[in-house]
Amino acid sequence: MSDPPAAANPFLRGNFAPVCEEVTADDLTVVGELPPELDGMFVRNGPNPQFPPVKHYHVFEGDGMLHGVRVSDGRASYRNRYVRTAGWKAERAAGKALYPSFLDPLNVNALLRVLRNFVKGALLIKNTANTALVCHDGRLLALWEGGEPHEVRVPDLETVCAHTFGGRLKNQFTAHPKVDPATGEMLFFGNSLFRPSVRYGVVNKQGEVVHTTAIDVTRTAVMHDFAITPRHTIFVDTPLTVSVRRMLRGQPLLKFEPELGARLGVLPRYGEGREIKWFEVSPCYVFHTLNAYEEDDDVVLLACRTEGFPEAFFMPPDAQAGDGTPIGREFAPVMYQWRLNMKTGAAREEALDDAPADFPRANEGVLGSRTRYGYALNIQGVNELFKYDLERGRSDRHGFGKGRFGGEAVFVPRPGAGAEDDGWLLTYVRDEGEGTSELIVIEARDFGAPPLARVLIPARVPYGFHGAWVPGEMLSGV
Ligand SMILES: [Fe+2]
Repeated sequence: MSDPPAAANPFLRGNFAPVCEEVTADDLTVVGELPPELDGMFVRNGPNPQFPPVKHYHVFEGDGMLHGVRVSDGRASYRNRYVRTAGWKAERAAGKALYPSFLDPLNVNALLRVLRNFVKGALLIKNTANTALVCHDGRLLALWEGGEPHEVRVPDLETVCAHTFGGRLKNQFTAHPKVDPATGEMLFFGNSLFRPSVRYGVVNKQGEVVHTTAIDVTRTAVMHDFAITPRHTIFVDTPLTVSVRRMLRGQPLLKFEPELGARLGVLPRYGEGREIKWFEVSPCYVFHTLNAYEEDDDVVLLACRTEGFPEAFFMPPDAQAGDGTPIGREFAPVMYQWRLNMKTGAAREEALDDAPADFPRANEGVLGSRTRYGYALNIQGVNELFKYDLERGRSDRHGFGKGRFGGEAVFVPRPGAGAEDDGWLLTYVRDEGEGTSELIVIEARDFGAPPLARVLIPARVPYGFHGAWVPGEMLSGV
């Protein structure tokens, strides 16, 4: 099977287009040398629609596909697999797309189609499991913020089943849970896109939900990420609002409304929702946090913050690429810091850099502590990575090279590392000129140098969202 023909939708064109085949390939060609002590699997999630859309398609809606490279003893193998969700199976059985896009006009015909599919056994909304991954309690979970996680077996990347923590999960589950490196707890929240409702919870090291509480929010909005410190959990309430009523009027379901203001909430880790302390901050949107930490009376949050959000991003495809880029120049997040004083209630904020960046990642072995380094992708060019030195207030760059574009880089610590940045950054890169895909391994302490290794992938790896490193001890049978 070959890829679908080029489509008019920018999110179905070029290297955003889905791939049709699930590939398994061993003994991949490595240009350079993989570090011999690098042992594990890099897995990245992303949208890969199984069938042409009913009508419209947004990049957030494709079925989740995992692309994994197993690295061991200096050698590498690759496989890609769909996350076989209930919605994926229903569409596979039907041989076509069943679920409408949130960009499609909401009318009687659309509602009837959804109800007809529901009667036949399909869910009302497809949990695509397409956004991110987390390792916890010896499991790899594929994540999508509108529904439950899906457990994925490693290293073969076969879907086990939806994971509801023994039935304790009663609400949505963020695509960006946080694992406390000291306690092994996993903290999560679930945000409803249909009513003002956020539930927060803690999963213990053994994988049991041991605490949940409702967070008091006053509007229905996209809350994509949050942050943790050893004692606190920080919520980001920014005004990218969701309104079905607005959609019924023929306007976008999602809309950035900065006039509605923004606030950050700080809750004790095991606190009840009413204990949250809110801090008003200047209006913005935040997709992703880098980290948070405590210092004296302050809780400090680091995240990629934008003041603008392109209206067209949540409109049908002819409007999505108005300036020739998939997301638009108006979306210009920069690395930013808020300092929230828990005693006085004062919030101080400042930009730490001026380069447009997102997909921030830190060394997750020290998550929740004051970290010196952070890494992020140039979100407008997607042609380079940044390494922030937050102590010295500067950043270094790693360019992918001419005509080469990459994604989020995941930091993998060197076994036994002492320094925070002693390790590697891994990401997929697409060479648009050569028409090839590869996994690159960058030495984090020699950030500007060429990659230590380029693992050539014998298949196209479409652009995607978030990745994770599965440590070697979690893998078996390889
Ligand atoms: Fe995300």
